[in-house]
Amino acid sequence: MFVRKLSLLLLGLAPALSAAEEVVVASPDGRLSVVFSLDGGKPTYDVTRDGEPLIRPSRMGFVLAGDVSLAEGFELVDQSTSSADSTWVQPWGECREVRDHHNELAVDLKQYGGTGVAMRVVFRAFNDGVAFRYELPEQAALPGEIVIADEATEFALAGDWPAWWVPAFDQNRFEYVYSHTPISQTKNTHTPLTMQAGDRAFVSIHEAALVDYSSMALENRGGDTLKANLYPWSDGMRVRTTAPMRTPWRTIQVADTPSGLVESNLILNLNEPSKLEGADWLHTGKYVGVWWEMHVGRSTWGSGEKHGATTENVKDFIDFASEHGFKGVLVEGWNEGWDGDWMKNGHEFDFTKPYPDFDIEEISRYGAERGVYLIGHHETAGAIPNYERQLEDAFAFYEKHGVRAVKTGYVEFADGIERRDADGKEHAEWHHGQYMVRHHQRVLETAAKHKIMIVAHEGVKDTGLRRTWPNAISRECARGQEYNAWSGDGRNPPEHISILAYTRMLSGPMDFTPGVFDITLESGDRPNDRIASTLAKQLALYVVVYSPMQMACDFPEIYERHPDAFRFILDVPADWERTRAIDGVIGDYTVIARQERGGDDWYLGAVTDEEARTLETPLAFLQPGRTYEAQVYRDSDDAHWWDNPTDYTVESKEVSSDTVLTLKLAPGGGQAIRFTPKP
Ligand code: NOJ
Repeated sequence: MFVRKLSLLLLGLAPALSAAEEVVVASPDGRLSVVFSLDGGKPTYDVTRDGEPLIRPSRMGFVLAGDVSLAEGFELVDQSTSSADSTWVQPWGECREVRDHHNELAVDLKQYGGTGVAMRVVFRAFNDGVAFRYELPEQAALPGEIVIADEATEFALAGDWPAWWVPAFDQNRFEYVYSHTPISQTKNTHTPLTMQAGDRAFVSIHEAALVDYSSMALENRGGDTLKANLYPWSDGMRVRTTAPMRTPWRTIQVADTPSGLVESNLILNLNEPSKLEGADWLHTGKYVGVWWEMHVGRSTWGSGEKHGATTENVKDFIDFASEHGFKGVLVEGWNEGWDGDWMKNGHEFDFTKPYPDFDIEEISRYGAERGVYLIGHHETAGAIPNYERQLEDAFAFYEKHGVRAVKTGYVEFADGIERRDADGKEHAEWHHGQYMVRHHQRVLETAAKHKIMIVAHEGVKDTGLRRTWPNAISRECARGQEYNAWSGDGRNPPEHISILAYTRMLSGPMDFTPGVFDITLESGDRPNDRIASTLAKQLALYVVVYSPMQMACDFPEIYERHPDAFRFILDVPADWERTRAIDGVIGDYTVIARQERGGDDWYLGAVTDEEARTLETPLAFLQPGRTYEAQVYRDSDDAHWWDNPTDYTVESKEVSSDTVLTLKLAPGGGQAIRFTPKP
């Protein structure tokens, strides 16, 4: 498992020049190997799978401010190895139990010559991928603040692999339609970046445990070598830290199939255990809300005649929620600050001052009587100083009113995220840099103090921190349903979900907000728009797109028009015992099955792109020897997302684990199934 391959001391030179030092760590099944070497003193790693190169020798290390290189001149001082095989339990998740089985190698390096800086690199090899992180121990050579000007980490791919990607360093954060090109045609991409390594494997590069550091994008300067491109502070520096410090893990997930990536728990396994162990206020569930109506133009966030967040409207939603068993009602546009150009006037948001027609005392009393709580909303428009000044009061206010989850928002297009120095000077920061990573951490911790869960929009990407802070219940960080409301021809394309499933979704839950039944958007004021989805596909999203807080975003009266299909939304849980990624081709189709947490029922979701498909799906995930009733919600035979999207059929079948079920999906369609064991 651990092999010291070669240690060559060149006589007459400093020990630091033991250039051919190579150390290997392999995954428990032996298929993946990471080799660490010092190539002339330059820390380097490579990865092979089944003996074939996956990542060619790639540089590691940092450049500190003042052009101080921590990417060369190192010698190997020590190395240690360990193995782990344990199982831990998630308070909520795609599965209850997670196995953490890996081999670890830690190499201790020291820079010879002037600096004498000590650096440790820790590698972990799992069956589903490899990861490494840097640590800078406390040391005389690094006193005071350490300013990282650049991270040298490279990923020299073993080929010009096709990749599914969204651009980084662009204005609209993660909210882009995915491109599918050879990696050589990318410039700067967000992670998770998923690629197909020939016919050998699917590979996804991301990071885990992003704490007090900057998000990593991947830069390609041509060819097939990617380099970590950390989001900088406004002065161009990437990270400010002090020793001892450790970076997030750089992760390379690897699987034989796209489905294998979906079932990987590598990102979660690299995060620290929960700091909220036993917190009885964490929960999962479904919600409705005063939200879609703003996006389709029926009502407004701002005050006035069309104001959405009125006491009366919210009470109607509470009635609907309570009648149908939804736990939460999201209300946006409830607080002072939305009038005028709110995207530019974030400093006007007041997080404890409701609009006069939103009687929060009365609403929370009314909701509590009916077993429904409010889901709060903090839109900041990127004005962080204004929000942080009010943070404690804002969460105390919501806690007092029984709010158990808060959606945060950071819509900002023009000037960047606002930061102010102690002396009041203003700076514009990225959404994904260290400043915002720190901010989101502060929000999570403040919310936890008030027993509140966070659903972040326009946030920092998920890196598995939900394990440590399980009140990070969901987030957006990709193009969600809302684009279908207002982006006209730029609506999410039919293939969107079957790309998200293998890219964005690998990082964690997504608040996509499924459940539009009015596919042609006639109930808003956009009769010429439409969604590239059939109604049955909207149901399938409740299984395919994982979120422990899952919205039913359409209007109550629309659901009342489709009681048969609505039944599935009412039945489907938001928390799971097990997840099986059954089948899928990235960008074409996806089939996922999940077992209800603490129950015997299974649910299946299947979605396709613009092509109609017939999929033969073995139900081997069901418990052998039992008969199940399958309640099938499918596209009718002549359904089509463009001209016949709401034509669906609900039917019942008897099945078992031996059944191979034929799933017929319309163009832009989908299918949702509930399997209930027969007594
Ligand atoms: C963007 C969010 O994604 C959306 O859900 C929200 O309604 C608006 N910002 C307003 O805060």
